[in-house]
Amino acid sequence: MRLERLVARGFRNLADLDRPIPPAGVALLGSNGQGKTNFLEAVYYPVLFRSLRNAPDRELARFGGTGFHVTAEVETQNGRRTVSATWTPELRRKRLALDGMDVPRVSDAVGGWLAVAFLPGDVALASGGAGERRQYLDRMLSLASREYLRALARYRAAVAQRNSALRLGRLDLARAFDGPMAEAGAHVIAARIAWVEGPGARFGAELSGLGEPLEGSLRYRGKAELAQSDAWAELLDASAQRDLARRMTTVGPHRDDLVAEIGGHELRAYGSTGQQRTAALALKLLELDTLAAAREDEPALLLDDAFAELDRGRQERLAARLFTGKRQVFVTAPRLDELPPGIRVEVWGVEGGAVSGAVAG
Ligand SMILES: Nc1ncnc2c1ncn2[C@@H]1O[C@H](COP(=O)(O)OP(=O)(O)OP(=O)(O)O)[C@@H](O)[C@H]1O
Ligand SMILES: [Mg+2]
Repeated sequence: MRLERLVARGFRNLADLDRPIPPAGVALLGSNGQGKTNFLEAVYYPVLFRSLRNAPDRELARFGGTGFHVTAEVETQNGRRTVSATWTPELRRKRLALDGMDVPRVSDAVGGWLAVAFLPGDVALASGGAGERRQYLDRMLSLASREYLRALARYRAAVAQRNSALRLGRLDLARAFDGPMAEAGAHVIAARIAWVEGPGARFGAELSGLGEPLEGSLRYRGKAELAQSDAWAELLDASAQRDLARRMTTVGPHRDDLVAEIGGHELRAYGSTGQQRTAALALKLLELDTLAAAREDEPALLLDDAFAELDRGRQERLAARLFTGKRQVFVTAPRLDELPPGIRVEVWGVEGGAVSGAVAG
């Protein structure tokens, strides 16, 4: 999959742009605070219609502006596609369109454009709390399968309503959501476990490919029996009084974790900084392969300073794994000599939000 043209208006500090994008991708060079990451954020926005830094939409609208618009013209295995999103403060929700036709639900618009981003903060996948890893799974599986995205949305809505009732002390009302929660939650857990046991089993191989000598593995931490919707009733009965006391739902995939181990020890607690960084990269590589397999198309690759703190050997191994020639790559660096090794793309400059450089075709 390749981005052929990007339109961004009113987006962060970026000067309004409408540019053809070279098939191999681009390197964005510029000093700190000029708009390099903002450009990647605009490229990524039409993937999931949310910020790659998890910023709320209103923060993406230019200071003092009236909202933002992004359009991605994409070349896929199945032909050309145009994906666009418009957000204004008055609109209660953003307006999405596929090939110029309004699409009411995000789940119907997701999947038109596919990219995987490597960000400096990604080390939190290994070092941070369970929420980081749940979000990793949810983003990836939502992009891999529309059913997952829909089940996740139903699950979240059910838990939110259940929790509202619990906050009012209304257990009877809360339990009306047990059924929808079980139905959607079982799908979510089953898909996550299937991923951990399928593509996730290659975590150790990815780690060693990046130069980690110790053995690594992933496992799902949660109640695996909840992958069956009929197993929920008993557990929800058993946790009802606790849920009421804590005023929230205490079982379900929103409490689970994806545990990574290196050398038999939990990475989050015992891993070194370098091991955690390598593990986070390995998770990203799995994301790339998972999406390519699920969607039968290569996602684009967004690298934001991803090579900055790796030693030369690891840089070269990562570059060899990433730059296959098939994938479109967007990479940022402060200077030309800090670009990852082995990358051949057009170089653009970013200064004060203005993107300059050759405009091909
Ligand atoms: N909504 C917004 N409207 C206008 N400007 C914004 C908005 N959000 C962020 N900015 C500005 O964008 C700039 C940051 O851009 P960005 O994060 O893309 O920098 P960068 O080039 O990636 O820098 P670094 O090398 O430090 O990562 C900051 O100066 C910030 O004030
Ligand atoms: Mg940046």
